[in-house]
Amino acid sequence: MSAANAPLRALDTTLRDAEQTELHPELNRAHVRFINLGKTYDGQPVPALQGIDLAIQRGEVFGIIGRSGAGKSSLIRTINRLEQPSSGRVLIDQIDIGDFDEDRLVALRRRIGMIFQHFNLMSAKTVWQNVELPLKVAGVPKEQRQQKVRQLLELVGLQDKHNAYPAQLSGGQKQCVGIARSLVHDPQILLCDEATSALDPETTQSILGLLREINKRLGLTIVLITHEMAVIREICDRVVVLEHGKVVEQGPVWEVFGNPQHEVSKTLLAPLQHGLPEELQNRLQPKPVSADAAVVLRLQFTGSAQDEPDLAALFSALGGRVRLLQGGVERIQGHALGQLLLAVTGSSLGAEELRSRATRWAQQVEVLGYVV
Ligand SMILES: Nc1ncnc2c1ncn2[C@@H]1O[C@H](COP(=O)(O)OP(=O)(O)OP(=O)(O)O)[C@@H](O)[C@H]1O
Ligand SMILES: [Mg+2]
Repeated sequence: MSAANAPLRALDTTLRDAEQTELHPELNRAHVRFINLGKTYDGQPVPALQGIDLAIQRGEVFGIIGRSGAGKSSLIRTINRLEQPSSGRVLIDQIDIGDFDEDRLVALRRRIGMIFQHFNLMSAKTVWQNVELPLKVAGVPKEQRQQKVRQLLELVGLQDKHNAYPAQLSGGQKQCVGIARSLVHDPQILLCDEATSALDPETTQSILGLLREINKRLGLTIVLITHEMAVIREICDRVVVLEHGKVVEQGPVWEVFGNPQHEVSKTLLAPLQHGLPEELQNRLQPKPVSADAAVVLRLQFTGSAQDEPDLAALFSALGGRVRLLQGGVERIQGHALGQLLLAVTGSSLGAEELRSRATRWAQQVEVLGYVV
C-alpha cells in the first residue's frame, strides 16, 4: 500500500473504533485495550501475536493462559512497551501509547508495576535497598523514600528482613520483595509474568493472597500470566486463552472453566477434571453385557444453573439404585461447577431415558457405558 493511502487507512481505523465503542460502551471505560494488535519479531517467519482485540477493565484481575510460545509474554510486555507492537494499538485509559516519546514512556512505566518468575532482585543489595532503588533512580528525596519503603515492606510482611540479602530469603520472600519494589511508584496496573511458577503450593497461596489484597485495597488492575490453572481459578475475574498468537477464547473464569469451547482450553483445563478411575475405565463396556449391568453416567455442571444440583430429586427421577463413583462440585465466582460419575442399576429406564432425565439437573450428560 502506498504512503498516499495512509490517511485513508487511519480514517478507516477511526471509523472501525467508533463503531466498536458505540456497540460496546464498556470499551470506553477499559483500562487497557488492545486493538488489532500484531507483533512479528525480526527474522521470525510467523507472527508472535496477530489481530488481538481485548479490553481489560479497571480493577479486574485478568488472566492470560496458553501453551508455551503462544504469545502471552509478548502480549503482556506491550502494555508497558517493553515490546513494541508491529501493528495495531495499545490504549491505556483510552490513550494510545504507540507514539510516546522516552519521557512519556518512563512516566508510563512508573504507572505499571511488573513482577517475574525469577524475581529479578539485585543480589548485592539488601531487601531495603532493592525496594528503594527505583525511588532513588527517580530522584525521590530520602525522607519520602524511607517512608515509602517502610510502608511497602510492612504491606508484604517483610519489615523484619529489611537488612537481609536475597540469598538469605525463601522464594516466597523474594517474590514479596519483587512485589514491594513493583509498587514503589503507586502503579495502577500490575503485570505478573508467571510470578508464582517457582514457588511451592503453600507459598503460591500466600502470594496470591497478597495480590488479592493489593487488588482490593489499592484498586490495582492485575494482568497475570500463569501455567497453573488453579491460580486462575483462585484469583482471576476473566481469562483469555491464546494460541499461536491469537485469542481463541475469553470470558469470565467460571464460564471458561465450566464449559471450555476451544480444544486448547479443554487441554489446558483437563488436569483440573477428574477422569474416569482407571480400574473402572478398564471394565467399561460399550453395550450392556448382562441384565444387571450398571449404566455409567457423567453429569457435568457448567455453572449456568441458578442452584446447586438437588441430588435427592435427581436420584429419585433416575429410579433404581444410584451409586456415586466419583465427583463433586466447587464454586467459582458464585457458580457451581463440577461433575458426577454415577452408576445406575435396577432402574426401569433405558440408558438414553436416564440421560435425558438427568439433563434436568446437569447441563451436560453423557452415557459412558456399562459395568457389571
Ligand atoms: N525476543 C524475541 N525474538 C524472537 N522471537 C521471540 C522473541 N520473544 C519471543 N519470541 C517468539 O515469539 C513467540 C511467542 O513467545 P512468548 O514468549 O510471547 O510466548 P509465551 O506464551 O510467553 O511462552 P512461555 O509460556 O513459554 O513463556 C514464540 O514463538 C517465541 O519464540
Ligand atoms: Mg512467557
